[in-house]
Amino acid sequence: MRWVPDSAFKVLEALERADRPISGEAISKELGITRSAVWKHINELRATGYDISSSQKEGYRLTRTSSKLLPHEIHKKLKTQFIGKTMRYLENTPSTIWVGKQICAEGDVGKMHGLVIIAEEQTGGIGRMGRAWVSPSGGIWITIVLKPRIPIDHVFMVTMAGSVAVARAIRKEFDLGALIKWPNDIFIGDKKVAGLLLELSAEADAIHHCLLGIGIDANVPINEFSPDLQKDITSISAEVGHEVDRATFLARILKEFENRYLLIEGGEYDSIIREWKSLSSTLEHRVHITTMKNSFEGEAIDIDEFGALIIRKDNGKIERVIAGDCIHC
Ligand code: BTN
Repeated sequence: MRWVPDSAFKVLEALERADRPISGEAISKELGITRSAVWKHINELRATGYDISSSQKEGYRLTRTSSKLLPHEIHKKLKTQFIGKTMRYLENTPSTIWVGKQICAEGDVGKMHGLVIIAEEQTGGIGRMGRAWVSPSGGIWITIVLKPRIPIDHVFMVTMAGSVAVARAIRKEFDLGALIKWPNDIFIGDKKVAGLLLELSAEADAIHHCLLGIGIDANVPINEFSPDLQKDITSISAEVGHEVDRATFLARILKEFENRYLLIEGGEYDSIIREWKSLSSTLEHRVHITTMKNSFEGEAIDIDEFGALIIRKDNGKIERVIAGDCIHC
């Protein structure tokens, strides 16, 4: 998508306010811009996916909003204090995490706290353990820039809050039984629907910033994926049987996340851990764990305040796993 100036969205707001067709002249007077600027902005909005009818006699009318995940549409539904108050939208980018890194390298990170970077499509999406993350248009591919004021050893709490927020939002918006598989995969039944990834930048013991990447197969056409992927993943639209309103859903996720993030900054880790446990599909399950060092099986019995999974092995020995792959046996 070409860059759309803010003034184009002012024209959109004028169309949204009008409950009947509105002339170019009326819009130009209302906004203090020329009629040719109105016409230019109408065309920019059309190119962004808004259907706007026009007639010589009556003027312009907004007949359908864009189905793209545009900040303008999310802001209409957003009830947060700081998460997503500023957003950056890209039609196409390798990865929103990559964009986040660039932004943090160039600017004052303190001012970026809460910034949400959104991509309609990612061409080089990054998953956990260096895997690729398939991100066609229709999904929700975002990165939240944060400068958390918490001890560095509790940074995993941010991902836990994100996982809980996504699972809760899926449950509340769509009445689907989403659960969290350790460490931060969101499943519906035996299929993955979303994944989260935290990129941390720290100096000594201080967090400089972190980037919380969230990928959700909202309206992605799963049937176009490789058969290998199709057997393991699902989308929200496939589960509910129709396309979902991504802007409303994302606004809900950001609010659910902010509520829990504020608890973390207040040092209230217990309630996040309790909620994570209540949504966990991993606890009390037999699991196969693969870490950088070894692999083993056992029963997942707990998660600690650092996000580590506690496993009781068959010989009774207790193992603590902070990072690795987990398969439910
Ligand atoms: C996982 O492997 O489960 C984590 C996937 C995280 C994907 C998201 S999509 C938005 C952000 N940008 C990326 O390139 N990755 C994360």
